[in-house]
Amino acid sequence: MGWFLCSGKSNKKSKKKQNKKPIDPISSTSEKSKLNSSVDVKKEASKDGGSDRIAAQTFAFRDLAAATKNFRADCLLGEGGFGRVYKGRLESNNQVVAIKQLDRNGLQGNREFLVEVLMLSLLHHPNLVNLIGYCADGDQRLLVYEYMPLGSLEDHLHDLPPDKKRLDWNTRMKIAAGAAKGLEYLHDKANPPVIYRDLKCSNILLGEDYHPKLSDFGLAKLGPVGDKTHVSTRVMGTYGYCAPEYAMTGQLTLKSDVYSFGVVLLEIITGRKAIDNSKTAGEHNLVAWARPLFKERKKFPQMADPMLQGQYPVRGLYQALAVAAMCVQEQPNMRPLIADVVTALSYLASQKYDPESQPVQAFRMGSSTPRTRREQ
Ligand SMILES: Nc1ncnc2c1ncn2[C@@H]1O[C@H](COP(=O)(O)OP(=O)(O)O)[C@@H](O)[C@H]1O
Ligand SMILES: [Mg+2]
Repeated sequence: MGWFLCSGKSNKKSKKKQNKKPIDPISSTSEKSKLNSSVDVKKEASKDGGSDRIAAQTFAFRDLAAATKNFRADCLLGEGGFGRVYKGRLESNNQVVAIKQLDRNGLQGNREFLVEVLMLSLLHHPNLVNLIGYCADGDQRLLVYEYMPLGSLEDHLHDLPPDKKRLDWNTRMKIAAGAAKGLEYLHDKANPPVIYRDLKCSNILLGEDYHPKLSDFGLAKLGPVGDKTHVSTRVMGTYGYCAPEYAMTGQLTLKSDVYSFGVVLLEIITGRKAIDNSKTAGEHNLVAWARPLFKERKKFPQMADPMLQGQYPVRGLYQALAVAAMCVQEQPNMRPLIADVVTALSYLASQKYDPESQPVQAFRMGSSTPRTRREQ
């Protein structure tokens, strides 16, 4: 297959990368799926001498059942478009892991599963969730990931229980910069480039100290089939993140990921959801709400998440919003390269804001009239 050579040392960023053809595993695997034979991941990789790069372990189903106390409900971390995710502890080494049990009717076939495992095994970066191993026992298909103790970005931005700590400005910028670095690796360092295609807040997972990692960057491309309601639910679920040209023509480019990143960045800054039907008409879609505001700099402070309570740097807010505005431009070629986004956000993340010594801005809660808070 010979897709990846991304051992970190190789492929020092070159601007020539743009003529590498991005990989879209659905099309790249659809032909192979016609072959119905079972496939061994390591055997496949070794065809191009790649077996030494496969780090993922294989697990027996009983090991993963034991790790999750038989997939007990109290081990359930969440449920997404591909199946349920459980917290578990591997008996062999006591490691805490997250185990995703894929819905059996959502999988196109054994071969795609293995191609995804292969792909995930070969992509390694500090801002990508690590695949520890997999299980393909009988008709069971499971993926074993490193456990991310702080959950997803979505859990920290939206529908928070009253006692949960709100993300401060510095943490938000750290998460945005780290997520952009993970995407930069997929776009610029993996060879050929990988289009993420399902970038959204629930796929940005948080480790100790809010270190962000992208998850589902391989699996996202599988897309559930054979269950129509399921597919449409999924399309609805990611609708607000989808670049307009991708939604209309199905044409996928690296710039569609940049658009989705822009939506995530807007959520991080505004605290609003990509799609929120509980808001008034005109405010359902975050990008549609933001576009007219982008044109008037004096309205930028209105866009800051009220949960920040005015505790953000004005210049930083303007710059972060400017980056988001560029990413969500309608014309794909007007959007920046993710490498440029990384440069901008790394700078913003390095400029630490301290509400004790720097001004606190006026802010307003909900749609009520503005309240002003001054330095405490
Ligand atoms: N590696 C992990 N560590 C901790 N929690 C995870 C991990 N992977 C997934 N989760 C949790 O499980 C939930 C469901 O994940 P997933 O099946 O990928 O669906 P989605 O991304 O659509 O939410 C996530 O929202 C997250 O809270
Ligand atoms: Mg996910």
